[in-house]
Amino acid sequence: MHKNGISKILGIETSCDDTCAAVIESSAENRAGYPVQNFDLYGTKLKILSSIVSSQTKLHEKYGGVFPSLAKREHQKNLAAVLNQAIRSSGVKNGKKEKQTENGLAEKIKNLKMIFGKEDDFFRSTIDFLKKTNRPDVEAIAVTNGPGLEPSLWQGINFARALSLWWELPIIPVNHIEGHIAANFIGREKNDPIAAEIFPAICLVASGGHTQLMLMEGIGRYKTLGESRDDAAGECFDKTARILGLGYPGGPAIAKTAKKFDPQNSELKIKLPRPMMFTKDYDFSFSGLKTAVLYDFKKRSEKIQRSKNYAKAMAYDIQESIIDVMVYKTLKAARVLQARSIITGGGVTANEKLGSRFRSEIAKLYIQPYFLTPAKDLSADNAAMIAAAAFFNLDKISSWKRIEANANLKI
Ligand code: KG4
Ligand code: ZN
Repeated sequence: MHKNGISKILGIETSCDDTCAAVIESSAENRAGYPVQNFDLYGTKLKILSSIVSSQTKLHEKYGGVFPSLAKREHQKNLAAVLNQAIRSSGVKNGKKEKQTENGLAEKIKNLKMIFGKEDDFFRSTIDFLKKTNRPDVEAIAVTNGPGLEPSLWQGINFARALSLWWELPIIPVNHIEGHIAANFIGREKNDPIAAEIFPAICLVASGGHTQLMLMEGIGRYKTLGESRDDAAGECFDKTARILGLGYPGGPAIAKTAKKFDPQNSELKIKLPRPMMFTKDYDFSFSGLKTAVLYDFKKRSEKIQRSKNYAKAMAYDIQESIIDVMVYKTLKAARVLQARSIITGGGVTANEKLGSRFRSEIAKLYIQPYFLTPAKDLSADNAAMIAAAAFFNLDKISSWKRIEANANLKI
């Protein structure tokens, strides 16, 4: 139990193309066994009671990336069902049906209409769901308020505002990037020695929308060291996979194709650039890598363009290039800032080769930081990480009236 009496949080995430809902429970005690005042990683266990992700990947495949108006419509269609499943599979009890006076109900419906504006269908599906569903036994609702695609963000936010209004629960806005970091702290046992020793940490969040390197001095204390000046690492995987005809999302497709390449026994050797690897700052740039792939592709004969060997050689060096740059810059930051750990998160960090390269490079260091990476199903977008990060932000507790989307929210 935390200050504010919060121990279970319902999370909602719709910043991109996945519709996600989850319930997280935090058992928190300080080292003497009392309820904590400030969030203490060492004394806390964050446990997933449920986590549902409804992916729209198939729908966006033909565009080779996320199509915002389609994502918005799908979130509206899916949110009630995804939340219903998250509540039911969490095992949390249903609270009593709220006693509504007629005036109170009319007031709530009036406010709901205000929240949904002209989105009639979304209003109707939400009110149908609310009328059927008792308030679950949670103490707050967490929702991603940015960064992300604005139309996508608003759907999760308006839905969360509706739940908050109807069930009279507070609402906690969560930064999506902090969510990716928080994914690393889910499921750790209380008094895990690593949790007591990880700060200062260097965090690398790499996804379809972001590539960001941060210094994390403690829970809620971040300094951005650098970020991508153009395409994100995941975006580069997606765009180059499209050039090579490997499908969407590009990251897993490139990783799978690269695995089949044997650099020792191939006549085809491709050496792509390692953009900004040795610059003094901590920024990244991946659009030049995409251009280099496109140039190489265009100068090949059609026969080579279509050959499996070419796709394998290309996929291999695209992956190597992105890994080389990200690992080099992250380790440099860790050395310079004397970090005690390296924390990763975001869809790209599901890449197995990236994880193994981090481990092998860290093993070569004289002073070795801990390496934290989320469980595989928690590296990509999910709502469990948003509910987990809400426990870091109990002081941001707010009401449905004040939550807004901020597509460019900074950490
Ligand atoms: O975190 P995420 O699910 O969504 C965003 O916040 O963007 O990340 C999605 C990105 C996509 O660009 C996808 O291609 C990439 O993560 N990705 C991968 C892998 N799995 C997903 N990139 C490289 N290797 C993977 N195994
Ligand atoms: Zn993400």
